[in-house]
Amino acid sequence: MTERLNVAVIGAGYWGPNLARNFRASAEWNLATICDLDIERAQGVADGVGGVPVTSSLDEVLADPSIDAIAIATPARTHHPITLAALEAGKHVMVEKPLADERHRGEDMVARADEQGLVLMADHTYCYTPAVLKIRELIAEGALGDILFVDSVRINLGLIQPDVDVFWDLAPHDLSIIDFVLPDGLDTTSVSAHGADPLRTGKACVGYLAMPLAGGAMAHIHVNWLSPTKIRQMVIGGTKRTLVWDDLNPQQRISVYDRGVDLASVTKSASTVSRDANISYRLGDTWSPALPEREALGNVVSEFAAAIREQRPARTDGEAGLRVLSVLDAARRSLAAGGAPAPMILDIPVRSAA
Ligand SMILES: NC(=O)c1ccc[n+]([C@@H]2O[C@H](COP(=O)([O-])OP(=O)(O)OC[C@H]3O[C@@H](n4cnc5c(N)ncnc54)[C@H](O)[C@@H]3O)[C@@H](O)[C@H]2O)c1
Repeated sequence: MTERLNVAVIGAGYWGPNLARNFRASAEWNLATICDLDIERAQGVADGVGGVPVTSSLDEVLADPSIDAIAIATPARTHHPITLAALEAGKHVMVEKPLADERHRGEDMVARADEQGLVLMADHTYCYTPAVLKIRELIAEGALGDILFVDSVRINLGLIQPDVDVFWDLAPHDLSIIDFVLPDGLDTTSVSAHGADPLRTGKACVGYLAMPLAGGAMAHIHVNWLSPTKIRQMVIGGTKRTLVWDDLNPQQRISVYDRGVDLASVTKSASTVSRDANISYRLGDTWSPALPEREALGNVVSEFAAAIREQRPARTDGEAGLRVLSVLDAARRSLAAGGAPAPMILDIPVRSAA
């Protein structure tokens, strides 16, 4: 059996305990330390996983030569400085979404990890769920045909975050999923965003984001911290079938509809396309694939260990985090321009189809 890797979890607030629990349960990892500025919080999480050393000093963690890696679950604005310090100290890093609170900071993180030859992984948790893995598989094998649209809704009564708006808090989930499941990933040229702050909290609490995708398709994302009902639904329409993913319905998370619009034969005249009388509607079956129930974070921590051992990029590496930040950055510029489409800054490679 290979030796376990030593990891420290930084941040013991809402999400850190989930990381701690999964590192603790993994045969790949030894959960060496829990670090939080609030030592009592760190102690509470340590007690919850059966007793682990705690500290309030990041410097102490980074100075410990036995620590191989850190997992950062602190607020977004702290991801950049903590990551840089950890890479400087020779540690591999996994960072919670969003990778950073500014695109250029994410670029810096990716460049530093490359220079140091260390793994930088974004915890895009949903990309490790059985549902998203199945969606990716169905799209890759052509079950949906060419993608026509993606419509994602992620709304609930949410925690208003101290440092990021609803786009930067919730949309990383939808964007990382789109990046992961579509053959061309987040291959968009511009983003239009509309946001509202009706409670005057100082940041958008309701957000709508639209972007063109490859081949004339379109993606739309609705994120909202003010909705009394919780909805986690993504519809992916294709030329052959349409998939509906309802993450809150464990009996039937994914439904595939063999229903849609067929353009049987399209007649083109000089500059127009006439579709009169050529449209038909398919009203076929609906089916639901069986999915294993497995906690995504178990897969996340395994992937982090595998990337370190095999000296390869993680499935959701720093560049995946950066693609998400690029859309969020364009959304921020679009919001500032009253919703006008803002061009993407495209100097990172789109996801490879492999
Ligand atoms: N992957 C997911 O599904 C998911 C879900 C929820 C939150 N998150 C992400 O996790 C991160 C943390 O979110 P949260 O809701 O747990 O935040 P939180 O505010 O509940 O907890 C953050 C903790 O970090 C500590 N902290 C802050 N700066 C620190 C530092 N420099 N050193 C050590 N500790 C420090 C704070 O004391 C606090 O206990 C965010 O990036 C968030 O987007 C991811």
